[in-house]
Amino acid sequence: MKKTIVLLPGDGIGPEVTRAAASVLRECAKEFDHQFDFVELPVGGAAIDAAGTPLPGETLDACRKSDAVFLGAVGGPKWDSLPVGKRPESGLLDLRKGMGLYVNVRPVKVWDPLRGISPLKSERLGDLDLEIVRELAGGIYFGERGTKTENGIERAWDTESYSAPEIARVAAFAYARLCSVDKANVLTSSQLWRRTVVAMKKDYPTVKLEHMYVDNAAMQLTLRPAQFDVMLSSNMFGDILSDAAAALVGSIGLIPSASFGSSAPLFEPIHGSAPSLVGTDSANPVASILSATMMLRDSFGLSLEAEWVEQSLTRVLGGGYRTPDIIEPGARAIGGAAFMEILREEMQRTLEHAERYGWGV
Ligand code: NAD
Ligand code: IPM
Ligand code: MN
Repeated sequence: MKKTIVLLPGDGIGPEVTRAAASVLRECAKEFDHQFDFVELPVGGAAIDAAGTPLPGETLDACRKSDAVFLGAVGGPKWDSLPVGKRPESGLLDLRKGMGLYVNVRPVKVWDPLRGISPLKSERLGDLDLEIVRELAGGIYFGERGTKTENGIERAWDTESYSAPEIARVAAFAYARLCSVDKANVLTSSQLWRRTVVAMKKDYPTVKLEHMYVDNAAMQLTLRPAQFDVMLSSNMFGDILSDAAAALVGSIGLIPSASFGSSAPLFEPIHGSAPSLVGTDSANPVASILSATMMLRDSFGLSLEAEWVEQSLTRVLGGGYRTPDIIEPGARAIGGAAFMEILREEMQRTLEHAERYGWGV
């Protein structure tokens, strides 16, 4: 298989977690005889510094033409004083918009070796395995905004606005066993959200559809997270709920994401650039590695390759090797670079084992 993959390392820990994802993809290409051509381009603060804009035209064009895109993270203190629209984060939003990515899937599941690091008691955590399906191209992130000063009083506003087709296209993606999260008791855009999702129910007769207000959803996620299968939500609610869900499995450094739309798909860990971790070799690369396996499985159809990486990763975690964010008593604290080294060795062992005895044995 021949694929062109654009790598957008970005800022902060972005470059190191991107290296981790790329190294896993390279191993897959080598062992399974694929040709992955990597093109690395600037985005975010790195692009502001290099080209004066957080999303250079060349970066967007290459992403649109590629087979898949991997992004590390953007943002950092260096650019924090810039206004909305000129910040590194705008580069990411423009990228999502420019690639027509309207759905973002964030799977959150407990990994058996990591049950002990959840802040929840094991019986509450249950077999947590849910997907947050987040609308990605609309809502308050892209609505009208402004500022004005009247009688010496400053006012600023952002608007949440959705059209029925924008809601329907992301809901159609998520319609499985659906809990649609909104704030229909207060927001008119949420009322349209709920009406649109309800109207689509007739096309999915076997689906059990539930609705929940977002404040309750945040609480239920903490009390009984295993009740959720697929949570469908707006751009902003999905952003917030996914960080909360990440905490349940122990660290935001564990959660990957995939975004789909009208051009190439985009894969990115859900965490940010973690400025305080830069240069400490303590960023957890797992979210990035899993974003790479989502690319392999969901975008290239390479399930065996994805399985290979994930089986190996389970063994490394099971062996007690942990970056500082997921450490627990008795486990072995190591840095991100050593973690990758151990994962590569484990991948070799898993491969030799599979060649001898078959996969999944
Ligand atoms: P953050 O996700 O960077 O960090 C939140 C917390 O999680 C911090 O304690 C951090 O150390 C920890 N953390 C994050 N990733 C980790 C990893 N891989 N391993 C271990 N620990 C990890 O969020 P923040 O602090 O709110 O934002 C920092 C910057 O990142 C801001 O500029 C923000 O705008 C940006 N951001 C970017 C993205 C993105 O590029 N997709 C996402 C979120 C935040
Ligand atoms: C995320 C991030 C981004 C978002 C920011 C950096 C624009 O928090 O991917 O979760 O809010 O979508
Ligand atoms: Mn976020």
